[in-house]
Amino acid sequence: MAFILDCCSESIKAAACRLLDGRLVAFPTETVYGLGGSAYTDQPVLGIYAVKNRPSRNPLISHYASATDVWEDVVPSRSALRLAEAFWPGPMTLVLKRREYSRISNKACAGLDTAAVRVPIHEIAHKLILETGIPIVAPSANKSTHLSTTTAEMVLNDFIYDDLLILDGGPCKVGIESTIIDATDDNYVTILRYGIITEEDIAKVCNVTESTKLSDKPIAPGMMFKHYSPQNHQVIMNALECGANDGYIDFGPMKDVKCRIYRNLSPISDLNEAATNLFKIMYELDASDCKSICIAPIPYDGIGIAINDKIRRASGGVGLLV
Ligand code: TXA
Ligand code: MG
Repeated sequence: MAFILDCCSESIKAAACRLLDGRLVAFPTETVYGLGGSAYTDQPVLGIYAVKNRPSRNPLISHYASATDVWEDVVPSRSALRLAEAFWPGPMTLVLKRREYSRISNKACAGLDTAAVRVPIHEIAHKLILETGIPIVAPSANKSTHLSTTTAEMVLNDFIYDDLLILDGGPCKVGIESTIIDATDDNYVTILRYGIITEEDIAKVCNVTESTKLSDKPIAPGMMFKHYSPQNHQVIMNALECGANDGYIDFGPMKDVKCRIYRNLSPISDLNEAATNLFKIMYELDASDCKSICIAPIPYDGIGIAINDKIRRASGGVGLLV
């Protein structure tokens, strides 16, 4: 059975022992909760794919305590060095060439010659990696195709029957997953998944290729179209109205809608706040008795690109496309 422990130095030590024992630990990061295992051993990595019901061809992100540690396993391109300097520790994942002697489990990389790596800024994630002494491989702590989790309770509900220690670090601040960047080339980079670090932020540091915003085409192996989905409800995006039995998720000044449940991602139209609240509010409405979940238009700009991407995947494309 899964169980939650409050974070303290003892529970972090217990979690590190579990990881070194080949077992799994869910832990908070600044973006979403991660479902962690030792990155250097195949067996926990296979365990992660199994409990998540994740296809093993969809590789995982390895989490490190510092950029210096990262460069031991992957080759830093010139663009990667610049991005690491600018955004690590923080909500950015780099895809880079694995070193010949890289210790990252082949299974974690799904047999590719690249690996996804990240240095989280969350204090508990950082302490857990240091205490474990090796990188932690962790996808978002949700069953495959479910909503990503941003609180310990959300993780518990998804993994209740699995053998899992969940470190409770409170709600995640960023609320959506890290920006993923292919930085294998010295001179230019490609954004594979949008996040809170935006294209504009990245372009200040290196050249960004024309990327496929909100594309249906899988650009990272994990970018299946239907993703981040509520389990019980249809999601309708760009909704300016809704039915009396629907849930309505607003953004900005309150719209005049008649609905069963009303929530607002950010009454002050702050996209950072909207990202923080997105999965939590979708999750709450999914557990309610409302009919469908209707979501107001979100500006398609900056962090709004990532938010629209999540909503679009949750809706399976239902709603007005802008
Ligand atoms: O914020 C995050 O990134 C969270 C926290 C826990 O760190 N993790 C996360 O992991 O979102 P996950 O497994 O849900 O998403 C990882 C994505 C997948 O879409 C996967 O296909 C992609 O990273 N990926 C991993 N290795 C890759 C590689 N070598 N090349 C391209 N994409 C890769
Ligand atoms: Mg995920």
